[in-house]
Amino acid sequence: MATAGRDYLGSYRLIRMLRASQTCQVWEAINDTDHKRVALKALHDSYCNDKDEIAALKHEFNVGHKFDHPLVIHIYDFDVYRGISYLALEFCISRNMKMAIREEGQELAYWAPKIIRDCATSLGYIHQQGWVHRDVKPDNFLLDYEGNIKLIDFSISEKKKTGLSKLFGGGSVAKGTRSYMSPEQIKGQALDGRADMYSLGCLLFELVGGKMPYTANTPDELLDKHIRAPVPMVKAANENVTDEFSDLVKQMMSKKKEDRPDDMDDFLRIFSTMGVYRIPPRKPQSMLDREAADEKEQQLEAEAETDTAASSTDSESTE
Ligand SMILES: Nc1ncnc2c1ncn2[C@@H]1O[C@H](COP(=O)(O)OP(=O)(O)O)[C@@H](O)[C@H]1O
Ligand SMILES: [Mg+2]
Repeated sequence: MATAGRDYLGSYRLIRMLRASQTCQVWEAINDTDHKRVALKALHDSYCNDKDEIAALKHEFNVGHKFDHPLVIHIYDFDVYRGISYLALEFCISRNMKMAIREEGQELAYWAPKIIRDCATSLGYIHQQGWVHRDVKPDNFLLDYEGNIKLIDFSISEKKKTGLSKLFGGGSVAKGTRSYMSPEQIKGQALDGRADMYSLGCLLFELVGGKMPYTANTPDELLDKHIRAPVPMVKAANENVTDEFSDLVKQMMSKKKEDRPDDMDDFLRIFSTMGVYRIPPRKPQSMLDREAADEKEQQLEAEAETDTAASSTDSESTE
């Protein structure tokens, strides 16, 4: 991005770069006018004049700025400053779920039921607002160290096709991420929330099974697997997964959308009746360490209070 040697984008003072993707850089920044900390998603130098990329960023603003939900990122602003288009977003932990799966592996299992519920709830919310995300994947959920998620990245989201508009088909180019893309999205058909349901199924497979449901040697082979290959069972990837949950993930990944849960509420209802793991996962070590540190701090505070009380009684008795 043209931020080399630059300290500001508009009124935002750049603090540090958090992440760089192919087309964008994400920065931590402070708005000088109200001192609010934000994340800025700005186009790279080489894409500054790319009309499609500028349109995608603007589109992301148009989709997301009205969303108002604790599990969905807030988008505050879209602006152009000296030729650089950028979004100002709610500032959050910059770790995404893909990184978390790589970093924490099995430790993440402890939070999995909460993560699963919250991912479905965040998607249910945007579906109710009339949108399909179209790029549901672990990279597009921020995830902190206590299992809290935020849904991000609406750059290719589309209005849900309902009623008459369905008859006119999708007509859209098959955009999305190959490892998580539903058959109907690959075919460029009209999409509703069930396309996200499919991708969420692939994401849950990876979260709980530790690997993606399909891999292939070529991009075309991968797409073909989403359309034709038998749906794998996540319990084959992780034997600690219950039969019920494995069946549910398989149902989400059904080739025909009619065979998937109807919507996120339907999914959450079914999910509430089951456990994810046969043997409950242990608390992550990081959490045990934090709890031990908190306990010690409380103990020290209590000791300090007793000391003060004792010394004030001492001084009272000497008076
Ligand atoms: N609001 C935010 N706060 C902190 N980090 C963020 C925020 N938004 C995005 N990120 C980081 O930047 C990465 C890329 O953001 P994303 O919006 O998905 O861009 P792209 O369209 O290039 O995929 C995310 O995976 C995350 O690591
Ligand atoms: Mg993304």
